[in-house]
Amino acid sequence: MNKIRRFGVLMLLALAVIFGVAFYGSTQLANNNLRALAKQRGISIGTAVQMQVLRNDQSYRDLLVRHFSKVTPEYEMKFGPLQPERDRFDFSAADGIVAFAKEHDQEVRGHTLVWHESLPNWLTEGKWTRDELITILQQHIKTVMGHYRGQIGVWDVVNEAVAEDGNSLRDTVWLQKIGKEYIEMAFRFAHEVDPQARLFYNDYGGEELGKKSNAIYALVKDLRQRNVPIDGVGMQMHVGIKNPPNLEKVAANFKRLNQLGMEVQVTEMDVKISDGSGTIMQRLTAQSEVYRNMMQVCLSAQNCQGFSLWGVNDRYSWLPRFLKKPDAPLIFDELSRPKPAYEALLEVLKKS
Ligand code: G3I
Repeated sequence: MNKIRRFGVLMLLALAVIFGVAFYGSTQLANNNLRALAKQRGISIGTAVQMQVLRNDQSYRDLLVRHFSKVTPEYEMKFGPLQPERDRFDFSAADGIVAFAKEHDQEVRGHTLVWHESLPNWLTEGKWTRDELITILQQHIKTVMGHYRGQIGVWDVVNEAVAEDGNSLRDTVWLQKIGKEYIEMAFRFAHEVDPQARLFYNDYGGEELGKKSNAIYALVKDLRQRNVPIDGVGMQMHVGIKNPPNLEKVAANFKRLNQLGMEVQVTEMDVKISDGSGTIMQRLTAQSEVYRNMMQVCLSAQNCQGFSLWGVNDRYSWLPRFLKKPDAPLIFDELSRPKPAYEALLEVLKKS
């Protein structure tokens, strides 16, 4: 009898150790996992993805699934890729991203229905009347949002419609041919297709109080006052260590948008370091502080529920191509290794 009792006790001890280790391991995983920590703080953390890379790079996929609960197609869901010829829609690449997100319980940000870039040649080269272009706009929005209804809950309906200096609307084909009403039309068309979707205006350079953010504030205030269905403002947050955003001014901007009943999301954050000074380690430390501070602003704001980066790791960032010089703007390096910015986000998310 004693032998059996001893064996039973040993078995119980062994099970306790196994479960203890498993629990510790899962806690550690959660503790080093942006996605789980962000969820505990009530926000989603996302990033931009490229279908081509998703197909071919395992470390990219692993990072994406482990650390991000939301994905934004970096290019595949724009006007040109989706409607390369008039009335011919190609959803294949975008559907691949949506399917991947669904498989990994990730939300998708629809990006973007109306922009002045990545438009197909048939649209930019066409000689359209106002009514013809309104019809094109309406058909694109209805077809795309209809295709994704129930799969995509938040859309960047209009992207970068305000001029950089904040003095006017950006001079685009939409403004030239339709007039400023195109913005209101886009939101109303979008809401008609999917009344459940949250509809955003998305822009860069309007994160903190200033001329451009004042123009964006005036735009969305006017839309809200005329009962145009708009739910939030996307703050792209393409910033740098040389002139990092002023925390108080960003927080004040988020607050005044909250008073309008608008949600805000950080939608495309990256922090360039090539324009900074100092050693690489000093630059990466400065970069980590910008990420930490912006996450803290989002966590502290009543109306900031989403925080997205613009890329999974430095290897696939758009910025070096755009700047035509090396840079390392994201939180994982060229080889998918964590950088100080990743550690900074972990720390700020762990604080209660
Ligand atoms: O995939 C095609 C390829 O098939 C073709 O051979 C090649 C020929 O040029 O083009 C490839 O597409 C490129 C695409 O990125 C995918 O890599 C486009 O040329 C290129 O213009 C496109 O750049 C994207 C840019 O938006 C324009 O759509 C960037 O990756 C993307 O990071 C950038 O993201 C924007 C946001 O949407 C809005 N906010 C600013 C942000 C940075 O500009």
